[in-house]
Amino acid sequence: MSDYQDILVSDADAGVITITLNRPEARNALRTNLLKEIAEVLDQVNTDNTINAVVITGGEKVFAAGADIKEMAELDAVGVMNDPRPTYWRRIAQFPKPIIAAVNGFALGGGCELMMHCDIVIAGDTAQFGQPEINLGIIPGAGGTQRLLRTVGKSMAMQLVLSGEFISAEQAREFGLVSEVTIPEMSYTRALKLAKTIARKPPIAARLAKESLLKAYETTLETGLNLERKAFTLLAATEDRNEGIAAFMEKRRPNFQGK
Ligand code: CAA
Repeated sequence: MSDYQDILVSDADAGVITITLNRPEARNALRTNLLKEIAEVLDQVNTDNTINAVVITGGEKVFAAGADIKEMAELDAVGVMNDPRPTYWRRIAQFPKPIIAAVNGFALGGGCELMMHCDIVIAGDTAQFGQPEINLGIIPGAGGTQRLLRTVGKSMAMQLVLSGEFISAEQAREFGLVSEVTIPEMSYTRALKLAKTIARKPPIAARLAKESLLKAYETTLETGLNLERKAFTLLAATEDRNEGIAAFMEKRRPNFQGK
């Protein structure tokens, strides 16, 4: 992968790459270029059959402090309307392979929203989550109102968005924003281990599982069940499904090829 200004991208290891947000001087504020770089990396990974999962992480004290407020201050309503950032967010949301977030420190505003674009979140126990946009006279602008409500339910979503108060990693876990809480030193290690486990799974099944699960956010049960059935049927036509079943019968480890 080429050099980037606002992120670090690791070499692929066991089918996983790590994207590290790298603007410590601005607390990893998500300026346009940073989002563009994430979207570009994900686009490349999308067509790279050797990479099956991605980890996104930030710094020790701040995962990401949200949209870049200084950049945002330059935009009037027409500027916001023509802002390219929503297109980068959409590319991140539509990335079909699993993304695991390792979060330490503050995940605020767009930082919390970036985390909600990830499929699994592992948080260090000192992490804090919040949508403080209300303090700036705005509201979450990268899906926060929609994804929060679907994830944590109405009362907590309202509390976070209306009060701007933060919640702890443990509260975030209770409310389903985070799946596991570790000591801060272990969050990345755990996320990477999980990503490597997922990267060893048959990739077409992982992709269709992600698509089916995410569809549940936005559709009726009947439509979701139909999508799941179609994905399930499609998988019956893959070599990996035959290999997985054969390996089980023959009491050996499967050798998935992504076919
Ligand atoms: N945008 C731009 N710059 C930011 C920033 C942000 N979101 N957050 C921090 N910075 C900058 C500060 O301006 C400061 O820069 P200078 O050194 O040039 O003054 C530098 O980063 C260090 O900041 P602090 O001194 O505040 O660092 P801290 O460690 O004491 O506090 C923090 C960390 C709690 C994250 C605090 O910086 C903070 O509250 N940041 C803003 C959080 C916020 O309001 N986020 C919502 C943004 S709006 C949004 O995200 C909209 C959306 O939905 C997409």
